[in-house]
Amino acid sequence: MSKGISSTSVGRKVLMALSGFFLMFFLLQHLLINMLSIISVDAFNEVSEFMGTNPLIQFALQPVLFFGIIFHLIMGMRLELQNRKARPIQYAMNKPSENASWMSRNMIITGVMIMLFMALHMVDFFLPTINAHYITHEHLDSFGMVAAKFANPVYVGIYLVAFVFLALHLMHGFQSAFQSVGFNHKKYTPTLKKLGTLYAILVPLGYAIVAIFHFVNSL
Ligand code: HEM
Repeated sequence: MSKGISSTSVGRKVLMALSGFFLMFFLLQHLLINMLSIISVDAFNEVSEFMGTNPLIQFALQPVLFFGIIFHLIMGMRLELQNRKARPIQYAMNKPSENASWMSRNMIITGVMIMLFMALHMVDFFLPTINAHYITHEHLDSFGMVAAKFANPVYVGIYLVAFVFLALHLMHGFQSAFQSVGFNHKKYTPTLKKLGTLYAILVPLGYAIVAIFHFVNSL
């Protein structure tokens, strides 16, 4: 009987990469919307209202997004377990730093930290949005919600730490995803690595700017 793509190590890496591409695209669009909150209160509220009520986004894209997040988490755990089994004597003979970067060896740690952040983020931002749209049917002031959360310096601190983990995860994840789908080119791979580093720094930095902006605005 033929087995699915996820039953082989290569297949799992490809699926991990595809879900990673999707999540990186989400991260970029989510950042652009959040950046609006710096530029215009009304524009941010309008776009948030659209994203939170459009049936296509709510009942097609959002379920795909949550599936993608959970899939990426489970596949990442499986890959980690498989790698541990494959090298039971962990780099005993070699210096780990010579085999791989800290980022590539600790994708599971940075990934789990991002998932913990996500749990906090869902409770504080996503659940109130769902509650307002589908349960209480109250008008939601998205800008007010974001501004209120980031008025707390401890909260901003937790978010900034999470953005550092996000940067470390993306630093390896971006170029690794291309490698996993078989993109390996003498000329373009070095450029892609630079692009990956740029993405891994600029996207979390953009999120940090949003959080810090709202904190400073609250003073
Ligand atoms: C300054 C940083 C951030 C702000 C202000 C912010 C804001 C929000 C808001 C207001 C919502 C709920 C309303 C909506 O559906 O649009 C939301 C949902 C969400 N956020 Fe964030 N977010 C931030 C960072 C992040 C990061 C770094 C991630 C991922 C690592 C993330 C992942 C999500 C997800 C998965 C949802 C639920 C799906 C969705 O509604 O789009 N957010 N965020």
